[in-house]
Amino acid sequence: MAKVELELAAIPEGKNVIIKWRGKPVFIRHRTPDEIAEARSTDLKGLRDPESDEARTKKPEWLVMLGVCTHLGCVPIGEAGDYGGWFCPCHGSHYDISGRIRKGPAPLNLEVPQYDFNDAEGKLII
Ligand code: FES
Repeated sequence: MAKVELELAAIPEGKNVIIKWRGKPVFIRHRTPDEIAEARSTDLKGLRDPESDEARTKKPEWLVMLGVCTHLGCVPIGEAGDYGGWFCPCHGSHYDISGRIRKGPAPLNLEVPQYDFNDAEGKLII
């Protein structure tokens, strides 16, 4: 399968980028220190699909996940919703700044694909 490479320096802190990978949108967010702190301080006990932010990211500042709502597959909107992350307009699912489902009908967190960093070249490889 073809891999996608992305220049990370082109994504400023606090910005989202969407790329296409195997026909699906992939969301990449360069998170701010405040967002990382929020994602990491969330109490997992209150989550529908309990997953730590540490388990969902290889580097705290980079969040990489499929842009496919786990309810019925719409593409959520970034920087929206009640939890400062993504909002799916189809039936109202709210995801947090780690892409975890917090409210609405979606059963699971946004899926994290396999990815790697090429630190020497400053690239993300999906
Ligand atoms: Fe996203 Fe239904 S497809 S809430």
